[in-house]
Amino acid sequence: MFIDFILLAFSGFVLKFALPRGSGRLGASFILEREDWLSMHNITAIIITILIVIHLIMNWVWIKNMIKALFVNNFVNKNAKNKK
Ligand code: HEM
Repeated sequence: MFIDFILLAFSGFVLKFALPRGSGRLGASFILEREDWLSMHNITAIIITILIVIHLIMNWVWIKNMIKALFVNNFVNKNAKNKK
């Protein structure tokens, strides 16, 4: 996930700053062709989206408990009561 994000961010910055849209001839290149950077950006974007969904599913119990603790059980008041 980390490596995928690095590739995604790097290809995004190359597209933004080294090869912005309309920055010259079609097929401009910076190490790789612009088309290749776009493909890398698209593929890593799809992969990270899938990884984020898997990450959310794997940590769903944590998310559910945190929502419960913060909004349903009134966590802070309960703790304060138990200390007395
Ligand atoms: C550091 C972060 C990022 C930067 C600097 C960045 C930059 C860019 C730029 C400049 C473009 C336009 C490319 C063009 O000229 O056609 C672009 C397109 C795009 N970005 Fe990013 N991006 C970043 C992160 C992301 C993330 C996190 C996602 C999705 C998970 C994403 C998905 C896309 C998609 C789907 C396109 C359209 C590509 C196409 O036209 O085929 N980007 N991005």
